[in-house]
Amino acid sequence: MKKTKNTKQDILKLLKENKIISGEKIAKILSISRTAVWKHIKDLKRKGYLIKATPKGYSLIDNGDLLNEEELAYLPYKVYYYKEVTSTMDIAKEIAEKGEEALIIAETQTKGKGRMGRFWYSPKGGIWMSLVIKPSFSLKEAYLLTYIASLATALAIEKIAGIKVFLKWPNDIIYKENDKEKKLAGILLEVKAEIDKIDYAIIGIGINVNNEISSLVPEAISLKEILKKELKRKDIIKELIKEFKDLLKVESIKILNLWKDKSLTLGRKVKIIHPEGEKMGLALDISDDGALLLKTEDTKILKIYSGDCIH
Ligand code: BTN
Repeated sequence: MKKTKNTKQDILKLLKENKIISGEKIAKILSISRTAVWKHIKDLKRKGYLIKATPKGYSLIDNGDLLNEEELAYLPYKVYYYKEVTSTMDIAKEIAEKGEEALIIAETQTKGKGRMGRFWYSPKGGIWMSLVIKPSFSLKEAYLLTYIASLATALAIEKIAGIKVFLKWPNDIIYKENDKEKKLAGILLEVKAEIDKIDYAIIGIGINVNNEISSLVPEAISLKEILKKELKRKDIIKELIKEFKDLLKVESIKILNLWKDKSLTLGRKVKIIHPEGEKMGLALDISDDGALLLKTEDTKILKIYSGDCIH
């Protein structure tokens, strides 16, 4: 089973490295039969690759934004790729309970979950993924994961899309267009922990890349709308995972400073909405334990650990 998968990846690699390559040459390099080559080519076509057969050999045609297990095979996590799921968070939970670390990606979600119990619209073309990790953090440090994830997402978008983005507390990735601020991506964190140790964390990341935006969410925007062209989602995913792994090694104070540098929230009058009610005030800073410090009108300074923030 494993061998079949590797052979397919090897053939794909050869097709990517050579403009045109004959079945005979592939068979010779990989020490397999011509029939085996043909079968794998057929399978790759079924997976969505455009492979042209010419008298001189096979040639792979760039088909833009293809996402599948082969394309994501070089990530440092085991990848589970689906065409459609209820929510990648549901699959991630099952995998996390088995003790695995993994990345779960789906083309569409029928019951995408947003923060505060909201529905997350997840049509084709976006990045909808959940990362299951078993960090060596204490429960007290779990807050860092949302800061790390939103920073990694922002940095990856900036690098691949070549645009500047900002962060809105607690973890929205925002694009500024004239005087409008629009949401490009969001993060959802679920943690299972004991008193002093995290069993696992599931980081759900949703990025509007090549997808259409629902008219029901006018405050959202996609990278395709901004750039007027499509991007390869795998490039963003690879960069994001790289940034995420790098940031995991950085000390917490530096993470918070990096986050603050990109923040739109700090220095603004904001309204915080959370289950116990609403609070208005000036967003002063982020405390060392990850809370938003809010100076209210009666000049009290409140520490807000969760909620929604309206600018
Ligand atoms: C937010 O409300 O801003 C958080 C949105 C998180 C959406 C992502 S998409 C992948 C993962 N699966 C879900 O159902 N939600 C998260």
